[in-house]
Amino acid sequence: MTSVLVTRRLPTDVAALLRHLTGIDIDVETWPGAGLMPREKLLRKVAGRAAVITMLTDRVDAELLETAGPDLRIVANYAVGHDNIDLSACQQHAVVATNTPDVLTAATADATWALILAAGRRIVEGDAVQRAGTPWSWAPDFLLGREITGKTLGIVGFGRIGQAVARRAAGFEMTVLFHTASSNRARTVPGATATPLAELLARSDIITVHLPATAATHHFFGRQEFAAMKPGTLFVNTARGNIVDEGALSEALASGHLFAAGLDVFEHEPHVHRRLRELPNTVLTPHIASATSETRAAMAELACRNIAAVLNGQDPLTPIQS
Ligand code: DGY
Repeated sequence: MTSVLVTRRLPTDVAALLRHLTGIDIDVETWPGAGLMPREKLLRKVAGRAAVITMLTDRVDAELLETAGPDLRIVANYAVGHDNIDLSACQQHAVVATNTPDVLTAATADATWALILAAGRRIVEGDAVQRAGTPWSWAPDFLLGREITGKTLGIVGFGRIGQAVARRAAGFEMTVLFHTASSNRARTVPGATATPLAELLARSDIITVHLPATAATHHFFGRQEFAAMKPGTLFVNTARGNIVDEGALSEALASGHLFAAGLDVFEHEPHVHRRLRELPNTVLTPHIASATSETRAAMAELACRNIAAVLNGQDPLTPIQS
């Protein structure tokens, strides 16, 4: 029987959906643990599977593909990011790799705005005052944040999510600048202006990161980039942690050069750089930018549709382009 492995419980009956989509009986095994599926268990369980639904925490490399054996036809990553997948190894093993673009764009863009507003308006500090029962009174200078409306937003990385963040900026009457390395995709957000990186860093009041994690974007934001930002810049990252040198970011925040940072992703998740945790001007969330019930269900459905397509001998809906 065709057999599928799912490395984490999903908010969808994967077996029922796959049977419905393929019309064949499919055996689905889901890792039942509350935590990550340990690597050695993944290697043991993947053998003989036709498909596997992986999380962004599962490393898909030559070792895994070899262990899986020749029946494996598709790795369906339950994420849009795919830095956990060795695409050339997939190609060598004739295994299709897919991801879940589009369905998580809105949730991730919304979460980016949540971080911009929370960090810019000191929402978490205010919440902490109230929860601690700290005495306070209204005062002209109490917990002053940064105005968002009318400011300049710099978006680094202008794929689907970066563009969705730009569209939401219209409500805040902002000047929107964007920087992207890829010139071949249509950039269709009215009012958003392609801008060289140096100019974007120098002009933006808020900088938000929407780059993919690749060798070229590793520590893309380091000491030099933070120094090039305007004093008082608000920095947000909902893309991948290793795009940012967290030591350099901590220094820029501690010195007061940056006003604040809103971060959903970290270089060594689930570990968070100690200084980022200690600083009062950071808002830190545990990689939840796509975490809405609707989006997570849509991601599961898309992963299943990709698997069904490949098992049915068709092209997957959202193959990862290498
Ligand atoms: C992704 O899909 O890459 C996100 O980081 C998951 O939330």
